[in-house]
Amino acid sequence: MSYTLPDSRHAAETLDEHDILGHAHDFFDLPNGKVYLVGHSLGPATHNALDALEMAGGRSWRNELVKAWNSASWFDLPQTVGNKIARLIGANEGEVLIADSVSLNLYKLASAARTLARTSTLIVEEDEFPTDQYIIEALAALAGADFVRVAPGEGLNTVEATGGVLVLSAVNYRSAEIRDIADAERRAQAGGGVIVWDLSHATGVIALDMKASGARLATGCTYKYLNGGPGAPAFLYIDQSLTARLSTPLPGWMGHARPFAFEPSYDPANNIRRFASGTPPILSLAALSGALEVFEGIDIGLVQAKARALGDLVIERVKGMGLEVTSPEDAACRGGHVSFTHPHGYEVVQALINRGVLADFRAPETIRFGVSPLYLRFTEVWDAMDDLKDILDHDAWDDPAYRQRDTVT
Ligand SMILES: Cc1ncc(COP(=O)(O)O)c(C=O)c1O
Repeated sequence: MSYTLPDSRHAAETLDEHDILGHAHDFFDLPNGKVYLVGHSLGPATHNALDALEMAGGRSWRNELVKAWNSASWFDLPQTVGNKIARLIGANEGEVLIADSVSLNLYKLASAARTLARTSTLIVEEDEFPTDQYIIEALAALAGADFVRVAPGEGLNTVEATGGVLVLSAVNYRSAEIRDIADAERRAQAGGGVIVWDLSHATGVIALDMKASGARLATGCTYKYLNGGPGAPAFLYIDQSLTARLSTPLPGWMGHARPFAFEPSYDPANNIRRFASGTPPILSLAALSGALEVFEGIDIGLVQAKARALGDLVIERVKGMGLEVTSPEDAACRGGHVSFTHPHGYEVVQALINRGVLADFRAPETIRFGVSPLYLRFTEVWDAMDDLKDILDHDAWDDPAYRQRDTVT
């Protein structure tokens, strides 16, 4: 089946009825009466994730106590769960490790990447997610390396010219613009440069093939489209042919070849585990492992096709509402969310939330609608856009209650 753009609510209903991914909705434990357009920020709970959490905490931890590190194979979880993600990003088994946060992994990978690059210059574009910028700038200061912050879209020219290390998002967190990974790798490598990919907004929603694209290093979060849960740990990917040449700047005991020999000096594991630092968060890992079950047997190409159609539906229906689209209108260039600006974006989002449509806001005025394909229906998106139109037509956002800002927006 193909996903087409529905031009009526009835057409949206028909698409939902024949949706080949429709069964995935049943995996999710969603609250009634809500349209959840924030799966690009925090994916919702699945039954399998909650069951796995209960099993790890209520059974293994409670009954087996410390023995569960062996009996429940807790020690291996960062690699076994990493293998589940490997399939989703086009990597091989043994090339993905669950560890730390994206922020820490960017630090570790960018530091390691310097030994592969022609020069030690560290590069980031100024519209990257803030943590990517902060981490790379701090690493450069600590390492005494040149740091270059360039205009959006200039990272590739700079890495080609300098042969340094560029941190680049596969899908931009604000606009959802997609980067061509294979083309970027070709250009960077031609100049002796290295790219560390941030796959946070790409994994689980667009088809990635890290091996075929020639990508060498990447990290990404698991709490967005992978639905791993709040604070779920990140993953990192290293092309296997490079692992033995790379060292982590944070050599903790969990990355040691023999962590339980308690040796005074560091000897890195001979596989991707050398990029682990401390004890992994087992309860979160267990939940993530359960969450990933929804992807079993699912073709990510189909997930991406549905994300494109849902995004097109949002863009089409928002036309004439007075919002400015800041995501690519060409679905082939767009990831899993669609962004708009409105001078009162925060208030508009609050008014939507008040009607049960959860969207998110990024300062200063970006409204983001995440169209996570595994649980969202075309009719839900259709109806949510009706709510948005009503709010904008009647200035329903203009209410003092909607101006009150929470800590997390
Ligand atoms: C593109 C991108 N990179 C990095 C991060 C931060 O990840 P973490 O909090 O795991 O360090 C986020 C968080 O949303 C993100 O969207």
